[in-house]
Amino acid sequence: SNAPVKVAVTGAAGQICYNLLFRIASGALLGPDQPVELRLLEITPALKALEGVVMELDDSAFPLLSGVQIGDDANTVFDGVNLALLIGARPRSKGMERADLLEANGAIFTTQGRALNDHAAADIKVLVTGNPANTNALIAMSNAPDIPRQRFNALTRLDHNRAKAQLAAKVGATVSDITHMTIWGNHSATQYPDLFHALVRGQNAADLVNDQEWLESTFLPTVQQRGAAIIEARGASSAASAANATIDHMHDWVLGTPENDWVSMSVPSDGSYGVPEGLISSFPCTVSGGEYSIVQGLEINDFSRAKIDASTAELAEEREAVRSLGLIS
Ligand code: NAI
Repeated sequence: SNAPVKVAVTGAAGQICYNLLFRIASGALLGPDQPVELRLLEITPALKALEGVVMELDDSAFPLLSGVQIGDDANTVFDGVNLALLIGARPRSKGMERADLLEANGAIFTTQGRALNDHAAADIKVLVTGNPANTNALIAMSNAPDIPRQRFNALTRLDHNRAKAQLAAKVGATVSDITHMTIWGNHSATQYPDLFHALVRGQNAADLVNDQEWLESTFLPTVQQRGAAIIEARGASSAASAANATIDHMHDWVLGTPENDWVSMSVPSDGSYGVPEGLISSFPCTVSGGEYSIVQGLEINDFSRAKIDASTAELAEEREAVRSLGLIS
């Protein structure tokens, strides 16, 4: 049978991972024929809680789970890993400014970027979920000079899935009727979910909805503010849906996107669509043979142009902020 794929996961004792790890071990990430070995990273005070999670993984007797290692040293945990899901991050506490958040996370993602650079397998793919995801991915990428830049992605798939759900509800369709959804920009409140290229049973979504007022005043803010709405309702941030989106992204990056559809992935910009080169920004992407491509040639109307520019300006500001903190060169 296949050799196990080594999957590193950080923040492994946290709430996203309490859902994510069990789904990886059950085969949701790489399919029913691919054994996996988990490499779980946590901070020292959380290792005891992580041992409890490992006991539950043991007790699930997953046939595909060939091994689990835990630790608080990235150099050891990342040794030989093929995939890395960077979930653990410093959350924003009350009154914390975005700059403080960037600095606190800078320390985590410089260390982890270097550890991946020095110890991961040659085919390493890195997906950052921990917020601020796009800029954390930029920091990790910038601190891993020997790993090709395209191997660093950030998660905007949750936003993509949220946008599909909102559109489906509006037009009375199911999510499987919807294709070609796109999230542009940053995983933040400035992100731009684009209905002008989305299709509902092959029909243009913006034309079908035919309601610019709904699009601007309901759809966009609902998708952009969904994280806050979950916190308000649940008293805790999205965890199961974030785990699900993390799996969706990495699954598609490894195994490919369906014919005649694309997904939203935050990837290092090559300058496509006027997004400044090097920013890790969300684009419509297809994947084949484990390599993504940014979908080219989409027409961007003036409304979309302004939204994409606003979100990528925010990413450029974050890049300047981490540059001035010395976290990237
Ligand atoms: P959580 O606070 O429950 O868990 C985070 C875990 O990370 C904690 O156990 C903590 O000890 C660990 N951690 C902190 N620093 C670490 C380090 N240096 N190395 C290894 N582990 C470390 O948080 P939760 O709910 O699991 O969320 C994790 C992150 O995902 C947060 O940053 C959150 O904002 C982000 N998120 C991103 C989404 C996206 O769509 N991109 C959606 C939802 C959450």
